[in-house]
Amino acid sequence: MSNQLDKVRELIELRAKARLGGGEKAIEKQHAQGKYTARERITMLVDEGSFEELDMFMEHRCTNFGMEKKKYLGDGVVTGYGTIEGRLVYLFAQDFTVIGGSLSETMAKKICKVMDLAMLMGAPVVGLNDSGGARIQEGINALSGYAEIFQRNILASGVIPQISGIFGPCAGGAVYSPALTDFTIMAKGMSYMFLTGPKVVKTVTGEDVTQEQLGGAEVHATRSGVTHFMVESGDEGIALIRRLLSYLPQNNLEDPPIRETNDPIDRLEDSLNEIIPDSPNRPYDMYEVIGAIVDDGAFLEVHAYYAPNIIVGFARFNGRSVGIVANQPKTLAGVLDINASRKAARFVRFCDAFNIPIVTLVDVPGFLPGTGQEYGGVIVHGAKLLYAYGEATVPKVTVTLRKSYGGAYIVMSCKQLRGDMNYAWPTAEIAVMGSAGAVEVLYAKEAKESDNPAKVLAEKEAEYTEAFANPYNAAKYGYIDDVIEPRNTRFRIIRALQQLATKKQTNPAKKHDNLPL
Ligand code: HXC
Repeated sequence: MSNQLDKVRELIELRAKARLGGGEKAIEKQHAQGKYTARERITMLVDEGSFEELDMFMEHRCTNFGMEKKKYLGDGVVTGYGTIEGRLVYLFAQDFTVIGGSLSETMAKKICKVMDLAMLMGAPVVGLNDSGGARIQEGINALSGYAEIFQRNILASGVIPQISGIFGPCAGGAVYSPALTDFTIMAKGMSYMFLTGPKVVKTVTGEDVTQEQLGGAEVHATRSGVTHFMVESGDEGIALIRRLLSYLPQNNLEDPPIRETNDPIDRLEDSLNEIIPDSPNRPYDMYEVIGAIVDDGAFLEVHAYYAPNIIVGFARFNGRSVGIVANQPKTLAGVLDINASRKAARFVRFCDAFNIPIVTLVDVPGFLPGTGQEYGGVIVHGAKLLYAYGEATVPKVTVTLRKSYGGAYIVMSCKQLRGDMNYAWPTAEIAVMGSAGAVEVLYAKEAKESDNPAKVLAEKEAEYTEAFANPYNAAKYGYIDDVIEPRNTRFRIIRALQQLATKKQTNPAKKHDNLPL
């Protein structure tokens, strides 16, 4: 046996040992909890055989609390690169089988290395989180490791897509890395995110709360909005990451990939000519409109369970990615409120950062009035959406289906916020406010002085509706580029996007903006 062959054998053994992470027992425990290991997750995520692992032999350097005897090849994170649908992606997956996936200085170095490579190459980073947080034995070195990661998250923001899958605990300040990335995915009954765990909560506030109640997938998908996607299982979460990336470019200098489609660009949808109810107070389902106009009816919704009065997500028109923002008349009549404004603003800014055109479908009665909203700062939060649309330089196509009143008209990608193509259906009502409210303001005195106030108001309302509740007033001034037949909407949007494909627009040079936070 040659010396060289011995060395090769040793390498093979070391690799096998590294691949076992925290060992068979810990892997069994992970499986018993219905969780995959870090390597299994990566294998499921990337194209078959494409993963190249880095830093398999790195070990932690901690000697506190007997840690020198607790060493694992590669420590608690698997890092490297691979491809998804043939496109390069950098990955890190925390390995819970190794000291609970807790973050050491060494692990931070491994994660930072793939983040730096991703920035150099202009490719997305996907992080799969499953960790007990900072490795307690390492103290400040673990904390500084987190800070190194956060700094890279910040510099990569808006340059390369960053996606966080949460497939286990994510506690303490560790939650800030996912929060700094573009999209977070959580699985029901498996993922937890909180700044302070149930025990600390009990000590400080006296509140009795479970992990699930405090920071489970459902809480963050519906109440806090911290997570963009909620899935049923680890498998679903991994599949979703692949699907999400299919809509995104590799970086901010590239366009999203084109996916061939057999869906005809001039497909007419007769149902849309009859979808708007006769009564302005009756709702219809905006999902039906979206499904009818996009390629093959495929829509990847973001934040599906948070602020459902506005819908945001990715779809394609003639094979090209777009971001869709649409008011949902079925929920709270599609009104804009604090949460809806924040949700849509973040989405619009993501699309703009990554060269994804924005298609806006408008049916909005206005902003939600009341002390709840005002005390919560709806002025500033509504301004976020206004700001996001106004600063966006990607192609912007807007279709007003029905109501578009007041401030909400302005906010929802109007012409004056550099909307490129603004269309309206013949059912559109584009006005400073709704008819009933308008006549209350204009004719209250006249009505009060008359013998029959209700009749006066009804007559004036009919007059106002006739004069203003239509798209032609706005079209008369060029604020609407054309009034279109609803069944033609798909074709008209595709034509508009084709026309706008070479759009070039820049904003004034600045250090950075001052978005109203
Ligand atoms: C060191 C840790 C650890 C940690 C878990 N382990 N978390 N070791 N530092 N932060 C170890 C455990 O001791 C155990 O080791 C192994 O990982 C598996 O953990 P278990 O507790 O057996 O698993 P489980 O019962 O599934 O519970 C998982 C858990 C729990 C809920 C995550 O371990 C936990 O509460 N950990 C601490 C979470 C936390 O408070 N983190 C905050 C740290 S401070 P053995 O040897 O027994 O197998 C922080 C600040 C970051 O994160 C700030 C960044 C800015």
